[in-house]
Amino acid sequence: MTSTRLTIGRRSLLKAAGATAATAAVGFTPTRFAIGQQARIKIGLMLPYSGTFALLGQNITDALKLAINEKGGKLGGREVTFVQVDDESAPPKADQNANRLVVGEKVDVLIGTVHSGVAMAMAKVAREEETLMICPNAGADAITRAACAPNIFRTSFSNWQPSYPMGKVMYDKGHRNVIVMAWKYAAGEESIGGFKEGFTAAGGKIAKEIWVPFPDAEFQANLTDIANTKPDAVFVFFAGGGAAKFVKDYHAAGLRNSIPLYGSGFLTDGVLKAQGEAAQGLLTTLHYADGLDNAVDKAFRPAFEKATNRPADVYAVQGYDTGLLLAQALDAVKGDMKAKKQIIASMEGAEIDSPRGKWKMSKAHNPIQDFYLREAKGEENRYVSIAHKALSDPGTGCKLA
Ligand code: PHB
Repeated sequence: MTSTRLTIGRRSLLKAAGATAATAAVGFTPTRFAIGQQARIKIGLMLPYSGTFALLGQNITDALKLAINEKGGKLGGREVTFVQVDDESAPPKADQNANRLVVGEKVDVLIGTVHSGVAMAMAKVAREEETLMICPNAGADAITRAACAPNIFRTSFSNWQPSYPMGKVMYDKGHRNVIVMAWKYAAGEESIGGFKEGFTAAGGKIAKEIWVPFPDAEFQANLTDIANTKPDAVFVFFAGGGAAKFVKDYHAAGLRNSIPLYGSGFLTDGVLKAQGEAAQGLLTTLHYADGLDNAVDKAFRPAFEKATNRPADVYAVQGYDTGLLLAQALDAVKGDMKAKKQIIASMEGAEIDSPRGKWKMSKAHNPIQDFYLREAKGEENRYVSIAHKALSDPGTGCKLA
């Protein structure tokens, strides 16, 4: 495997172009190949390596590379080159970044990203250029609903999915009147939408909606509002650095005992070390948990920790599964990227034996998977129970479905 990192700016662009050429020169023969030698498969990674989602992008990247390393560093018998771009979770830069990878670098596969708004722009470029794209996190519902496409797949979740099961969980715990709070962008809105659907269907009522601009993490005025409104409980969507800050602020405001806090599992995944005492006992729902009883997870966790010195989390699992999905599809065509129809057919029929448990690709190209109720204990989100078995996104509007 080789890797190149592209950064924005003309000078760094030129430097990056030079680096790419240097990378390509190793084991890359552009015209005729010696028998048994083939060009490298070029993977474009467009992920956040800075800002509130930086660690999420890093874990996805490292686990994807781990999966490929475990296959001898090859996909379908071919060596792999990575070209990496820091998307900064910045939607205004997304179109240009995606075009640099797809049109400029002519990557065989576009992988990314974490932020829903950025992923929507990537999906547009991938659809227009007919480049294979795999989304290893961003949940923007439309990617596997109205904006679905034959060449676009997701190995993570739709924003609706992790929040929907929490509606019933919270109702069953006796909460009837709940404040919802999130960053005001697609992921926050759709995540809250999924929760409201589950909670109101069970009989619950929404006391108030609180919206914060992304990626702001100044919550004091909102916490005062929550204390004054006195709901039965609060449900939130925050992730990464913002989630770490929110949980600490909620605890410091003295609200944990009087107004129970819940969220989709992004609230505590990958950030428990930073949250410490403030997160203990938090209940969340997600498609991964610590302490799952399956052999793939038992092998994956120590391997990821050995490679990175960091504990595995949901983002690492999604990156790893992206590698498994790619490997399966490219092995089926012996690395022939031109065999697009077979690659797509193989991905559509995929059943991934994942650290999260086995999951299947839906007709809209989104995982059908179990969602777990977890409880934060120490630095782990411990498995409590299955909150919803084999949950599929409703997939509204996808013409593939
Ligand atoms: C999203 O923008 O879709 C998103 C970001 C971070 C998460 C989950 C979803 O942890």
